[in-house]
Amino acid sequence: MIEIIQADITALAIDAIVNAANETLLGGGGVDGAIHRAAGPRLLDACRAILEVRPGVRCPTGEARITPGFDLPARHVIHTVGPVWHGGDHREPELLAACHRNTLTLARERAIDSIAFPAISCGVYGYPRDAAAGVALSALAEEQHRVRTPHRIILCAFDAGMAEAWRRAAERLHVAVAGSEQ
Ligand code: APR
Repeated sequence: MIEIIQADITALAIDAIVNAANETLLGGGGVDGAIHRAAGPRLLDACRAILEVRPGVRCPTGEARITPGFDLPARHVIHTVGPVWHGGDHREPELLAACHRNTLTLARERAIDSIAFPAISCGVYGYPRDAAAGVALSALAEEQHRVRTPHRIILCAFDAGMAEAWRRAAERLHVAVAGSEQ
């Protein structure tokens, strides 16, 4: 069952938290900034060590890369890069779904059993919340149905509005979710 909580993702003591990064993996604002601040400077060193697949790109949009969590209570950070919203006809839904699928694939490879996602692309990248919520919920529900692990999949909203958007999407899609105010 997918859990929906409202919390600061950097405070979660679980196997992995997901970072909404950019393709350089060199940090930024929003949740990316919060995770780097809480993880400490070793996170940036670990990101810099990740191979560039082309100049300036360590993680192409839709893909995921993993590092330790360092000073975070979470053991790992899985960095994924969501699509920038350009109106919805530039493969945004497909790329956002790929972020969730590729992150879970990487989590399974590392025997990660509890993982929390922020609302990828819903901040600076401008993806409309309700549309993004539907893509995330259906991708995660499909994946969890296909493969049992990670046992704990958490959607971690920073504000009540995003938690509500996920709950509405879960209802619309008939996906069973558990909710707990963190
Ligand atoms: N815990 C949980 N969620 C958070 C936190 C936090 N500490 N801080 C922010 N968020 C939420 C935002 O409220 C938003 O709903 O994360 C969601 C994603 O917003 P952004 O962090 O802006 O990420 P995104 O829209 O994917 O844009 C990525 O922003 O920070 C840069 O380097 C990053 O260039 C990349 C871009």
